[in-house]
Amino acid sequence: MSEQRHFFVGGNWKMNGTYASIDEILKFLNGDNLDPKTEIVVAPPSLYLSYVRGKLNKNISVAAQNAYKVEKGAFTGDISPTQIKDVGGDWVILGHSERRHVFKEPNELIGEKVGHALSAGLKLIPCIGEKLEEREANKTEEVCFCQMKAIAENVKDINDWKRIVIAYEPVWAIGTGKVATPQQAQEAHHSVRQWISKNVSPDVAKCVRIIYGGSVTAGNCRELAQQPDVDGFLVGGASLKSEFVDIINARK
Ligand code: 13P
Repeated sequence: MSEQRHFFVGGNWKMNGTYASIDEILKFLNGDNLDPKTEIVVAPPSLYLSYVRGKLNKNISVAAQNAYKVEKGAFTGDISPTQIKDVGGDWVILGHSERRHVFKEPNELIGEKVGHALSAGLKLIPCIGEKLEEREANKTEEVCFCQMKAIAENVKDINDWKRIVIAYEPVWAIGTGKVATPQQAQEAHHSVRQWISKNVSPDVAKCVRIIYGGSVTAGNCRELAQQPDVDGFLVGGASLKSEFVDIINARK
C-alpha cells in the first residue's frame, strides 16, 4: 500500500441506469460518509453523463466508458473526447474487456484511442487483463504486457502518465462473482508495475496507480486494498448499489 499513490475507486455503470435508478445511485454518492482520501470517479452511460455531472457533488468526477480516436466526423453512434469534456466529463475508460471482447476492439485501436484522448486533455483509465484460458496457459504476463505496450506506445509525453490510471481486470473475474485472490491481484499488479519500470520509467512505475477490477464487493475489497500494488478499484455491478460506499471506504 503506497502513501504516494492516492487511493482511487471508479464505478463503471456499463449499460445500466435510467433517470429513476440513477437518482437512487446519486443519493448514496452525494451522502456525507465517503472517505475524503479516496479519489472517486463514476462512469455512467454517455447519454446520462451530463445529467449525472449536474447532480453529483463536485468531489466526484465523471468518466465516459469509451470514446473514438478522432475529434468529430462521420462515425455514427460514437462519441469523442472533445464531446465528453464539453458535457463535463474529465475521464474516459478505454479498452475495457467488454470493448475488447464483445465489440472486438483490437490493441492497436485502443492504443490510438489512448493517444487521441490524451491529446484532447482527458484523464484515462485504460484497461488490461487476460482471459481464463490465457491464465490457465500461463500467458497472463504475455497478454497484459502486450496490452500495456499498445497503450504505452501512444503516451508520447512522459508527463501524460500523471493522467493515467491502469485498470487490471482479469476477464474471468468480471461479472462472474469469481474475484481474484489478493495474492493473484498483487502478483499481476506487481508485474505490470515492473513492466512500466523497465519500459517507461522507474519514476512513472512508482507513481502510476494500478487498480483492480472484477467482482469487487464490500466483502472482499478490504483485503485487496491492503496489497502493496493495489491502488484502488474499478467496480462494475457493486457500483450500482449502496455497497459502493464501503468500497470507496476500503482503507478507512
Ligand atoms: P464487476 O465488478 O461487475 O465484476 O465488473 C468489473 C468491471 O468490468 C469494471 O469495469
